[in-house]
Amino acid sequence: MTPVATKKQTPPLYRGVSPWKHFFAFQRDRQAFLRKAYKEAGSIFSIQMGPKKMAIIVGPQNHKIFYELTDTKLRADLAYVFLRRIFGPLGFTASPEEYQRQRPVLHASFSHKRMAGYVHIMQEEIRQWLDTLGDEGEFEINHDFTSVIQNVAAHSFMGLDFRNRMGEEFWHNYSILGKGIDPILPPGLPLPRFIRRDRAKARLQKMLRPLIQERRAHPDKYDDFLQDFVNARYKDGEPMEDDIIIGLIIALMFAGHETTIGQAAWTVLQLIQHPDYLQKVLDEIDQHFPYGEVLSLTDLSKLQHTYWAVMETARTKPSADINMRVAVEDVEVGDYVIPAGWMVMVVAPVGHIVEDVFAEPFDYDPLRFAPPREEDRQRYSLITWGGGVHKCTGMTFAINEMMLIAAMLFQRYELEIVSPKEPKSVYGVGAIRPEKTIVRYRRREQPLGLHATRDTSAEESCPVPHQDKAECPMPHSRD
Ligand code: HEM
Repeated sequence: MTPVATKKQTPPLYRGVSPWKHFFAFQRDRQAFLRKAYKEAGSIFSIQMGPKKMAIIVGPQNHKIFYELTDTKLRADLAYVFLRRIFGPLGFTASPEEYQRQRPVLHASFSHKRMAGYVHIMQEEIRQWLDTLGDEGEFEINHDFTSVIQNVAAHSFMGLDFRNRMGEEFWHNYSILGKGIDPILPPGLPLPRFIRRDRAKARLQKMLRPLIQERRAHPDKYDDFLQDFVNARYKDGEPMEDDIIIGLIIALMFAGHETTIGQAAWTVLQLIQHPDYLQKVLDEIDQHFPYGEVLSLTDLSKLQHTYWAVMETARTKPSADINMRVAVEDVEVGDYVIPAGWMVMVVAPVGHIVEDVFAEPFDYDPLRFAPPREEDRQRYSLITWGGGVHKCTGMTFAINEMMLIAAMLFQRYELEIVSPKEPKSVYGVGAIRPEKTIVRYRRREQPLGLHATRDTSAEESCPVPHQDKAECPMPHSRD
């Protein structure tokens, strides 16, 4: 039963129990724990994680408060201090003032012009992987998607030469770094994995520093993401410092690849699990994706059923499940006040089952995103990519990549889940993915799209409901 509140109460403690009970339930299965708490306690409640009080707020109106007060009353950098040790003060680990200096530079690298180029790189990398598969066989989906997505990231952000010469060493050190990320323990403890983390970071810095010097010496020779950072000037005309560039590169690889692996894998698995909807995706690939051709951003926007599948997976299996802030002033939410000093969280797997927003929320139903239903029309209802000032810079990049992986894989192959038949999610640091899952593939007698033609005359539109063309979050519909 939802407790009756009077003004100025703090959010009620869910089943006011011993401090550690919440902690262990959270560690065991945070999605199940928080969903249960929401069902029992309502859309504003609190949990106690050891000595820390945390408020959880659910639903588009509450998400709005969370995202719109970010960097004023609610601070992201104070919540993500454990990431600051690794990346330095960057993006949401930087103070609001420092972040405002960096923001234009960060966003310029995801411009429409850049995105058109990334989409070509994505197809080149996916095709190279598909060419290794042969006529039939099996793959472990996380393993194979990790290498494709890492290659896309290294190639897009750092250039082909880096991807070929240094990619492997980079990702090796990067994985050691990732194992040293811990949101709970103080990052300076002399634990072996923290020591390995710091050594891996030093090796990455050593790898990247000469590259930056080379780029500074020959700025006209390169035209990619790394060069954007090297060429960038803050508003005051100062160039970005080498350490900031290095931190940005490592941070982007972190932000961009773990999250995409999980959701790309779930997009494909969920399509295999739902053959009726898959058929719609196959039909549109056959019609709009000419086999052997490279799609432009505009062509990609024709694959609307694929897009809705990606969005439904984003709703049901969001890989970055929790966004956190620290309240630096009291914040009113509904009938409650979250006091300064508390942690505040929004939780995508909880926000995405609010029944007033998403009908039959536990059903897989990609058409909920299609007109006329457009169930995500209310702002901040779908929070897979966050919202407000720190909304994911790489959202469009990730959506394009996930659409292309699914479309190109199903274009060539028939797929089947071998084991486990009903995969579950596993939690990593900051990102969720399916457990190890073996997929069997067999080459189609004829690939889809053999007779597809490009319809360049069609009116360009944004496939995301209720978006102005000028504001379409999928810029691929506007190239
Ligand atoms: C499915 C894939 C992805 C998911 C689910 C995801 C999710 C998120 C979320 C939830 C946030 C906001 C965190 C907060 O407000 O606390 C965020 C921020 C961010 N993401 Fe992503 N992300 C994905 C892919 C990417 C990619 C591919 C990149 C870049 C290559 C990227 C770069 C960033 C950056 C730079 C930020 C910080 C933005 C800022 O502070 O202004 N993400 N992401």
